[in-house]
Amino acid sequence: PRILFVTSEMSDFVKAGGLGEVSAALPRALRATHDVRVLIPGYRQVLAGRKVTTVGRLRAAYGLPACDVGRIDLADGLVVYAVLCPELYDRPGTPYVDEAGQDWSDNDVRFARLSLAAADLASGLGDLSWTPDLLHVNDWPSAMAPAYLAWRGSPVPSVLTIHNLAYQGLFPHDRLETLGVPASAFQIEGVEFYGRVSFLKAGIFYASDVTTVSQTYADEITTPAFGCGLEGLLRIRAAQGRLHGFVNGIDESWDPRRDQHLAAGFDSSDLGGKHANAEAVRGAFGLEPSTGPLFSVVSRLVHQKGIDLSIAATASILAGGGQIAVLGRGEERFETALQELARAYPGAVGVRVGFDETEARRLYAGSDFLLMPSRFEPCGLSQMYAQRYGSLPVAHRTGGLADTIEDGVTGFLFSDPSAAGLASAVGRAVESFRSKRRMALMRTAAMSQSFGWHQSAAAYGELYAHALGELAPRWS
Ligand code: ADP
Ligand code: GLC
Repeated sequence: PRILFVTSEMSDFVKAGGLGEVSAALPRALRATHDVRVLIPGYRQVLAGRKVTTVGRLRAAYGLPACDVGRIDLADGLVVYAVLCPELYDRPGTPYVDEAGQDWSDNDVRFARLSLAAADLASGLGDLSWTPDLLHVNDWPSAMAPAYLAWRGSPVPSVLTIHNLAYQGLFPHDRLETLGVPASAFQIEGVEFYGRVSFLKAGIFYASDVTTVSQTYADEITTPAFGCGLEGLLRIRAAQGRLHGFVNGIDESWDPRRDQHLAAGFDSSDLGGKHANAEAVRGAFGLEPSTGPLFSVVSRLVHQKGIDLSIAATASILAGGGQIAVLGRGEERFETALQELARAYPGAVGVRVGFDETEARRLYAGSDFLLMPSRFEPCGLSQMYAQRYGSLPVAHRTGGLADTIEDGVTGFLFSDPSAAGLASAVGRAVESFRSKRRMALMRTAAMSQSFGWHQSAAAYGELYAHALGELAPRWS
């Protein structure tokens, strides 16, 4: 079957977080069995320096401008279609925010245009010689596509993957006409969410099936504590057998033996190279030479990630003779607090504000432990990279963290997302660090976890087959 994978980021071009990595890896994992192609907005990072062939044209609709569709053939043969609309996408900044970190004020139009392009292509509009049998959309930026299919009476099935329920794409009621939302759909049984249009709810409501990126998170989001107000609808989808949890994998570039970004390669039978990376990290983060445990944080600096808890736990790390190196970017209050912490403990706390892939990989490789006290975590990739690179995660028992870390075997889990909860897990980590034998055992166990895409890709494949078997759309 022909699958169009619709995404707002892909690490081949531009990534803001885990979605970008999944969007690069999952379509490739599926290519063995499916004709998968990707649809992405034609940001400047997508088009710059690439051969782009215009293969189609989509008409303006509602308040959404007309656009061309460009085709890019990536080196490994993966075909990417780009929505060519310079007025919406040819800008500096990230896919979502401007250079000052503010959401683009026309994000509703930008991502409704992406969603509508997907629905148009699925309906055979736009002269493309290739028409998908199924749309696989991701997070709120493409979640309106299943709704557009439904409103046009298209029988093409769709799968929505929720990578993070906390970002919903909420826009004011007065945007209905611009976005092409029929008045009859602006209600609880539709796209309305407390008086606003919710892109993500549109996807949950109209998609044939909804998936999220771990089984535990799939269960959690049916409860008020994690459901962000959508738990009622999600509970209904779960009861209908239409809500699934498929854990993410990591791709082959995450191999400590071959990773070119590292100061030195290593594997579980020869950890010499790990020390070289630790030294590189200590140098880059201004930390004193030390034989104590090195903790790391590689994260978006946002509430979700429990940055405040990591800051509070620093005292117990230092008390245990440890050091901490933090790489992150995000909310200013966290950037400032971390920089203050580094000033207060020179040589023991190192902080770099920024987004740097090489530095991130060296941190996973060089550190002994990775702090990940996320309040919620749909899947999380960092804890898998850390394990693969022999850094044991210290993490809150939630979402994908609960599903990919074995407490006391490949890392340390704690149940109460508080400073005290994290501090006690840090205590267990420091304690383990004192036993060379125990550390070696845990490191080996962590490094030999498989984390491949194979199983999840097969699960998505089965779900596609199931969705395609149903000719009548399920919402009717
Ligand atoms: P999320 O998508 O919620 O941010 P994930 O754990 O799924 O969380 O993915 C985060 C990805 O972004 C990881 O690959 C991590 O290494 C990377 N990352 C996060 N912050 C930085 C940073 N400051 N510099 C480099 N890479 C980062
Ligand atoms: C989101 C989630 C993260 C997940 C990633 C990829 O960014 O926060 O937990 O790993 O998407 O699915």
